[in-house]
Amino acid sequence: MKQIKINGGKPLSGEIHIGGAKNSAVALIPAALLADGISVINNVPNITDKDALFEIVKSLNCEVKMDGTVVTLDSSHIVNTTISEKLSHQLRASYYFMGVLLAKYKHVEMYFPGGCNIGARPIDLHLKGFEALGAKIEYNEDNHKYIISADELIGTRIPLEFASVGATVNIMFAASLAKGITTIENAAKETEIINIADFLNKMGAKISGAGTSTIIIEGVERLKATTIDVIPDRIEAGTYLLMGALLGEDLVVCGVNPNHITSLLNKLKDMGVKFSINGDKIKINKCNNLNPINITTLVYPGFPTDLGQPMSVLLTQANGVSLFEETIWENRMQHIEYLNKMGANIILKDNTHAIINGPSKLKGSMINATDLRGGAALVMAGLIAEGETIISNIEYILRGYENIIRKLKNVGADIRIIKSEE
Ligand code: EPZ
Repeated sequence: MKQIKINGGKPLSGEIHIGGAKNSAVALIPAALLADGISVINNVPNITDKDALFEIVKSLNCEVKMDGTVVTLDSSHIVNTTISEKLSHQLRASYYFMGVLLAKYKHVEMYFPGGCNIGARPIDLHLKGFEALGAKIEYNEDNHKYIISADELIGTRIPLEFASVGATVNIMFAASLAKGITTIENAAKETEIINIADFLNKMGAKISGAGTSTIIIEGVERLKATTIDVIPDRIEAGTYLLMGALLGEDLVVCGVNPNHITSLLNKLKDMGVKFSINGDKIKINKCNNLNPINITTLVYPGFPTDLGQPMSVLLTQANGVSLFEETIWENRMQHIEYLNKMGANIILKDNTHAIINGPSKLKGSMINATDLRGGAALVMAGLIAEGETIISNIEYILRGYENIIRKLKNVGADIRIIKSEE
């Protein structure tokens, strides 16, 4: 089993280059199947989630190859619209094939998606959207298999009970080839949705309002293959900026869109962290006198849930009591027990509220990643802890942080992957 070994306390100096956004790329790859022909997706991050998606598109008889960060995908010869249970479970974003295959072939068979264990993660809003468009959904309780089909899809008004990112994107996919106009109300406004809508519009779709809470999709007959660039990963960028606030000595995070992380930057300012923005580069330095603050995760443009766990590590170093509330997922505090094992002083009121007392001196320990962003938080804790930290279950981390070991080593961290004895 692979583990990450860190000797803490090393300052971080130099440049970290941000890759393409995971939560864009995992939707853009399925989206390419909406069109016939060869699509090109640039700036795809080197994360293991992309490998899982490649397995799925190959199982549908699509050719896919990656050269550097450029993915070329030929969807001209799709022969089936069934995705196996194993492949469905490999990641959360497998659910995007529902909207894509339903739109193009009016039929898809697949299983409940996978993904980090941060909550029940239902897909009822996706399914209600498909039904509103005219799809029939059969669900087998025993093996969690879905068979979704439609004679035709007719545009309609779809108000979302919650501004779900996945449901917004999946309904956009299904509506893009429906007859007539679909209006998604209370749509998610995350920046990745704009990136995905841009891809579909370049294919010939007619989508307006992406990035606002009302998205209008006028269905078209067919979509043609095209190219798209994945936007920078705002969560990867935010994670490294938080590391910079802890250990930075002129750490420069490059290839960022600062407008996508305004909520984080404002919180860092509130804590007294100094940084400077120069185009797509943000230079940040360690802050030795952090103010405690309160964090409540919200839908975009609020403070992102995916940065809550990394932020909780910075809060352990603040001078006083900070309150951390997670409002999007019901099980996103599993990393807290390991931070406390390292010497943090965090009281979990319940699975969504934590009282973080700082500053705490963290000591290197043997710990386990519990999910993607919780794992990144533990890497941060290991980087500041005194002594040696060994992190197990690092597969979670490698799903969403491309080349994280190399990127951190390049700026001075004493970090490497080791093989455990057993
Ligand atoms: C996307 O998940 C991201 N994943 C998540 O990032 C991110 O945390 C989340 O959006 C919120 O920003 C991908 O894009 C692959 P949601 P998604 O639908 O689409 C409830 C990471 O670390 N809900 O916005 O699954 C759901 O239970 C990952 O990169 C329903 O009730 O999130 C949750 O409470 C983790 N029914 C809330 O909405 C549904 O049908 C947010 O879910 C769908 C969602």
